[in-house]
Formats: sequence, C-alpha cells, structure tokens
Amino acid sequence: MEHQFNKINKVEGSLSLPGDKSISHRSVIFSSLAKGESVIHNLGNGEDVKSTISCFSSMGVSFENHNDTLTVKGLGLKNLKKPPAPLNAGNSGTTARLISGVLVNQNFDSEIIGDESLSRRPMQRIIAPLTLMGAKILAAPDGTLPIKIFGSKNIHSIEYQIPVASAQVKSCVILSGLHLDDESKVIENIPSRDHTERMLGLKVSYESGNKVIQVSNKDYPVANEYYVPGDISTSAFFMPLALLTGNSELLIKNVSLNETRNGVITILKAMGGNIAAENIKQNNGEITGDLLIKTSKLHNIEIPSDIIPNIIDEIPILTIASILATGKFSIRNAKELRGKESDRIRAICSNLKHLGLNVIEYEDGFEFDGDITNPFPVFESFEDHRIAMSFAILSLLLLNGGKVNNFNSVAISNPDFIKQLKTISR
Ligand code: S3P
Repeated sequence: MEHQFNKINKVEGSLSLPGDKSISHRSVIFSSLAKGESVIHNLGNGEDVKSTISCFSSMGVSFENHNDTLTVKGLGLKNLKKPPAPLNAGNSGTTARLISGVLVNQNFDSEIIGDESLSRRPMQRIIAPLTLMGAKILAAPDGTLPIKIFGSKNIHSIEYQIPVASAQVKSCVILSGLHLDDESKVIENIPSRDHTERMLGLKVSYESGNKVIQVSNKDYPVANEYYVPGDISTSAFFMPLALLTGNSELLIKNVSLNETRNGVITILKAMGGNIAAENIKQNNGEITGDLLIKTSKLHNIEIPSDIIPNIIDEIPILTIASILATGKFSIRNAKELRGKESDRIRAICSNLKHLGLNVIEYEDGFEFDGDITNPFPVFESFEDHRIAMSFAILSLLLLNGGKVNNFNSVAISNPDFIKQLKTISR
C-alpha cells in the first residue's frame, strides 16, 4: 500500500500513546512466567507485542483482553507447555531473542521462526551466550532463524560480558539466568535500555565502569500489576513534526522517560528544540512524564558515540529532523542499524539520495548535506515501521508532501499512527 501525506500547517492538541513496546514485551513475558494472574494496563497494540503474546499462548498461557487491560494467567517456573507448532516471532527481534533464554530451560524442545526480515537478522549473538550456559541450539549456518532449541535441565549459571550494546542479548541471558539456582552475572560496558533489570528488581552494581547485573531464580517474577507508560520511540515521530511546523504546540501525555531511552529528547533539545517534561512520576520503577513540544528552529549538532545505543531506534526520525535543520549531519559508530528490521543505514541513505541530497554512506553510519531537489518524492519504507513513519513525517513537512510505499509496516509498533496524526494536524 502506497500512502500520500500532504503538508500540514499546524500541529496542536494532545496525544496519549499506547504502551512502550519494550516494556510491553517484558510485561507479557514476566506475566507468562509468573504463576497466577497478572494484569497489564496500556499494553502496546503493535504486531510485535502480539507475536510475544501468541508465542506464550501456544505454550499454555492464557490471555484475556478487557478494554485497556490484559489479564494473563501465567504458569510458573519451568511449567510452560510444549507448543504444537514452531513459535512464530513474526517481525519481532525482541520476541525471538528474549524467549530463547526462557526456552533453553524448559522440559521440551522448540523451534523459533520469523518473517522474511527477522529471518535475516543475527541470532548468533544470543546463541553464543546460551551455548556457554550449556544450551544446545541449532541454527542456519549463518546464525539466523529458524532456530531449534533443545530444552535442558543442565543449563548452568554464567558470568558474561555483553560484546555488543544490546538490551536484547542482555535480557536473553538474564531470562535464562532467572531459571537457575546459582547466580549469573551479566556485565555491560556500554549501557543499553535497562527495563529488564528494572522490572525484575535485579541487583545492579558498578565495577571499573562496567554495570554488573546479578540474577538467579530468587528473582523469578511473581504475578503483578503492570502500568505500561506511553512509548517514547513512538512519541519521537511527533517531536520533529511539532518542532518544525509553524505556530505549533503539542502535548504528549504519560511518556516513558527512562534515562536509557530519552536520548532523543537530549539530542533534539541540543539542536534547539523547545521540549519540556512536566508532571514527572515514578510508575513500576519507570519514570514517566508529559512532554510539551513547541515550534523551534533546529541546527545540527555532533552526535556523541556514547549516546548511540540510547537513540538506536530514533536515528531514522532524528535524521528527518536533521534534513530540515541548518548545518551538516553526520552519524558514525551506529553499525547496529544494519541489523534492524531493515538495514537502516542503506534504507535512510537510499531515501536521502532520492531527495537529491549529497550522501556518503559508511559501514557504521552516514553523512549528508545539500538541498532537496526532488519536488515529488516517493519514499521506500523497506517494510520497516520506523523508516515508514520517519518518511511520512518528512512528507508532512515538505511543500508538496510525499508518498511512502508499503506503509502497512507501521502496524509493527503503532497501528494507530494515521489516526493519531489526524487528531493533531491542522
Ligand atoms: C529492544 C532493544 C533494542 C531495540 C529494539 C528493542 C528491546 O535492540 O532496537 O527495538 O526491547 O530490548 P538491541 O538491544 O538489539 O539493540
């Protein structure tokens, strides 16, 4: 499906967005593992979270939806049932990687499959630590899905330094460690999003600049009530829209402001963006607040490499802000972007070239300058939700608007994107 977006004149009003995708996945996983009834409020409604629900549902966990609330009847430690068919993680890397840490500890064998995009993404990064813990996992020779996981009673604890800044790898090892009597230590030298350790209340310490997370079955989740805050990654798309449209003011309510995720606000403010956080609260160990965003003039800045893991999902939309900001844009040390739902470096560069900009693509980033010369752009989404939404936002800011191909992929994280746009666009 190709979608036309026309220039808007003003952004006003307020948005309350569905629950954060990362926190939603974890709420579903922890509720499924815990014995008894958990309740999740404001769960994310994207396809990825549905993939996690569907995997646990086929392992005997029951889910009931009432309005804005999901009730989960979890099965308790090592009590999941053998699924009748391969577990389908769809497009969701978080689903595939996090549930692997659970599956190696069950008393049945299982298989994880995914869609075409997920079947290209690297799984060796979780197979390596799980194998060190004693797991037997069979993958395609290039370390991709489908993977066969042989459930085992003999998984043992580990002390593991995460070699890439990845919350998915970290969480996979933690989830496996959650099933074991002995304590595992997961060591991180570049911080990644910390929802797993935060939501499980794990013991965290710092040794010579590294973060050390301790986990054992003493930390196994119990039935709980979760309140999932609005998704900051979803909110991020509306920020440049409000900042770069004249006379605009947008309030985004109840957004997750976790400090391992809020780099997009830091960067946009450093670019000159008028963004204020109000009504700050603590909710289930997560900081939330309302964001008030007003029209601003933006200039490009140097993006420090240590903030990259924090903004990894927001680089596509930050690129859009930078196209309309003054100065030259450059980002490096972001090779992880090549292993996302699409190769996001290639996807962004290809769309920027289509606009007529001068683009240099690097293995770990890109830079560009110049003026937009294509008056009627048709952008390619590469069937990647964040690329689709980013170039939709750019289209809303361009004189003649623009089109985005294969726009349906937005349903992966935010099926209501168009509806939300309509409520705030004038
Ligand atoms: C996620 C972690 C990030 C992020 C993804 C969600 C998570 O991936 O890109 O969208 O919920 O743990 P990596 O940890 O692999 O960088």
